[in-house]
Amino acid sequence: MLSGIQPTADSFHLGNYLGALRQWVRLQEDHEAFYAIVDLHAITVPVDPEVLRRRTRASLAQLLALDVDPERSVLFVQSQVPEHAQAAWVLQCLTGFGEASRMTQFKDKSAKEGSGNASVGLFTYPVLQAADILIYSADKVPVGEDQRQHLELTRDLAQRFNNRFGDTFTVPEPFILKSAARVADLQNPTAKMSKSSPPGCLELLDDPAVLAKKVKRAVTDSVGAVAYDPIEQPGVANLLEIIAGLTGDPVTDVTARFAGSGYGPLKTEAAELVVAFAQPFAVRTRELLADPAELDRIMDRGAERAREATRPKVAEMYERVGLRIPL
Ligand code: TRP
Repeated sequence: MLSGIQPTADSFHLGNYLGALRQWVRLQEDHEAFYAIVDLHAITVPVDPEVLRRRTRASLAQLLALDVDPERSVLFVQSQVPEHAQAAWVLQCLTGFGEASRMTQFKDKSAKEGSGNASVGLFTYPVLQAADILIYSADKVPVGEDQRQHLELTRDLAQRFNNRFGDTFTVPEPFILKSAARVADLQNPTAKMSKSSPPGCLELLDDPAVLAKKVKRAVTDSVGAVAYDPIEQPGVANLLEIIAGLTGDPVTDVTARFAGSGYGPLKTEAAELVVAFAQPFAVRTRELLADPAELDRIMDRGAERAREATRPKVAEMYERVGLRIPL
């Protein structure tokens, strides 16, 4: 199993945690798990070098604070494992220009960069993602629904390589996390929680008072009674999902508990749960960040193990294509 997260923020937010990272922790228990901090993906849009360096370390510290265990799983930074870039080039040469042009995430992100300004790296981003997955022979890739198209491309590229050059790559199954909560923006509950909209985003390293205030200010509706109705009452449904996610209780139970109550108690409980989760998480993250030598050691060890796992597959790939095997 392999998954990845971009180091594009100083803090993970509640949507990252309930949507994906919580499952990383669970899945490492019964899978051979590889978890990548994908900094090569992060440079597909302009980023200041010091900011990137800081966010890579912050991502590592936060994953450790969430209990991703670097002994049980292989936790590594993508740029330290050159096999990713080596494989990506070969896969780029098998990807059609039109095929890459159909990726909806590229269309969205390049529109944000302004027409003509998006990098070629942003264009080939999904091919690098395919390389990430294929060189580990991952058969399961836990990702959110938004990554479905990239997973389909990965499968197509694996099959194409295998047909053209002989059986080399495992064709991965999309492992779309259905159980994962989809956490919405508190100010705009029909949109996904995102760091690009700070008032509606619960950044886990934020001050507890700020987190509580954001929950208390969450947009609800004028219905006035608690019910789980994501269409008519998306803000209330989101608060119920957050409570369900953090307590582990089914959303139906949580909804029943608030039957007949107004929105005040719902927000109070959501705020308390968010703070109770975020506060110890932030303390633990800061402790880990205070020992940079230990973080370096964990990154270097993870990279060594990732290289050991992927070097033979990249050698096989190069051999089959007629390239010389990297030394
Ligand atoms: N594109 C993924 C995202 O935005 C991040 C990612 C990069 C990834 N490489 C990956 C996810 C490999 C899973 C497997 O979430």
